[in-house]
Amino acid sequence: MAELLEVRDIRKSFNGRVAVDGVSFAVEKGTVLGFLGPNGAGKTTTMRIIAGYLLPDTGSVCVLGTDAVADPVAAQRKIGYLPENTPLYGEMTVEEFLDFIGEVRGFHGRAKLRRIDEIIEQCFLEPVRHQTIDTLSKGYRQRTCFAQAIFHDPPVLLLDEPTEGLDPNQKQVVRDMIRRMGQEKIILLSTHILEEVEAVCSRTIIISRGRIVADSTPDELRRRSVTYNAATVRLGVPASQAEAELRRLPALAELRILEEDQRTCTVYLRPGDGRPLAPEIHALACEKKWPLMDVHTDEGDLSEVFRRITVTEDTRSAGSSTAQ
Ligand SMILES: Nc1ncnc2c1ncn2[C@@H]1O[C@H](COP(=O)(O)OP(=O)(O)OP(=O)(O)O)[C@@H](O)[C@H]1O
Ligand SMILES: [Mg+2]
Repeated sequence: MAELLEVRDIRKSFNGRVAVDGVSFAVEKGTVLGFLGPNGAGKTTTMRIIAGYLLPDTGSVCVLGTDAVADPVAAQRKIGYLPENTPLYGEMTVEEFLDFIGEVRGFHGRAKLRRIDEIIEQCFLEPVRHQTIDTLSKGYRQRTCFAQAIFHDPPVLLLDEPTEGLDPNQKQVVRDMIRRMGQEKIILLSTHILEEVEAVCSRTIIISRGRIVADSTPDELRRRSVTYNAATVRLGVPASQAEAELRRLPALAELRILEEDQRTCTVYLRPGDGRPLAPEIHALACEKKWPLMDVHTDEGDLSEVFRRITVTEDTRSAGSSTAQ
């Protein structure tokens, strides 16, 4: 199974405190895997272990057939890593830095110069090409680091909060790049931006307290939201006429009258099990001859699911637990 990134039961403690507590997953080519979790959940530690910058206490990592723990150098050749805190050589210009990265990665002569030009164009670094890294703005530093991660066109990319600090336009540019590269590569990216997960990831792992608590597609996760398929309905009859009938809908768990006047009402209806309510509402309105003026169906909310199944460092130290 050489096309896989395989992480098997990795564990890591710092000074007796568990940071990663038995994480296992396998990712295949053509996947953008979003790594989500509260602060301190163990995302960066897991990525550093995969990148070969940190040894796990136990467990193994296999990068396209190469054991990253036994042979980190060979595994690193297949990996591009954008760390959380970008260690750059501040006194070099962007071009000098990329030249240095090129040499380290085995590029020389014309091929190296060509690649530097390509990368500078791809990462929109032309305006700062001759500027020293120390003097770059945060966004340009981030993009310079992104450029080093993809320089050797590695089949596996580990991106720790890749759009952190970028302006909205550049966030979009980087997301487009990730989406495009994700068709051919294995990309593991950590983020706190749930909208980013929905925009670019084909799979999501949620990690909490060093453990995987969800592994699914973003769509499937969203469907676990308590508000999934809830309907907000505007009817051309007063609430007093509709409420009792609506309460009889078999899937209903919650009903709230949001607005009403003498002729219309707007009602929020939430199903108990995520089943769609809209068809039953349509059928009822038809049967009772109620004018159905508007129906809006809730698509679910990833952030609500995230909050429900994760435990933050703060709640952990407060001794409470809201895990699944
Ligand atoms: N080098 C280290 N020495 C001691 N503790 C560490 C070290 N690196 C990480 N930790 C601890 O391991 C736990 C997991 O940290 P990690 O950086 O992996 O979290 P994270 O999920 O990336 O969080 P964030 O969303 O804030 O980036 C934390 O409690 C952190 O303090
Ligand atoms: Mg982190």
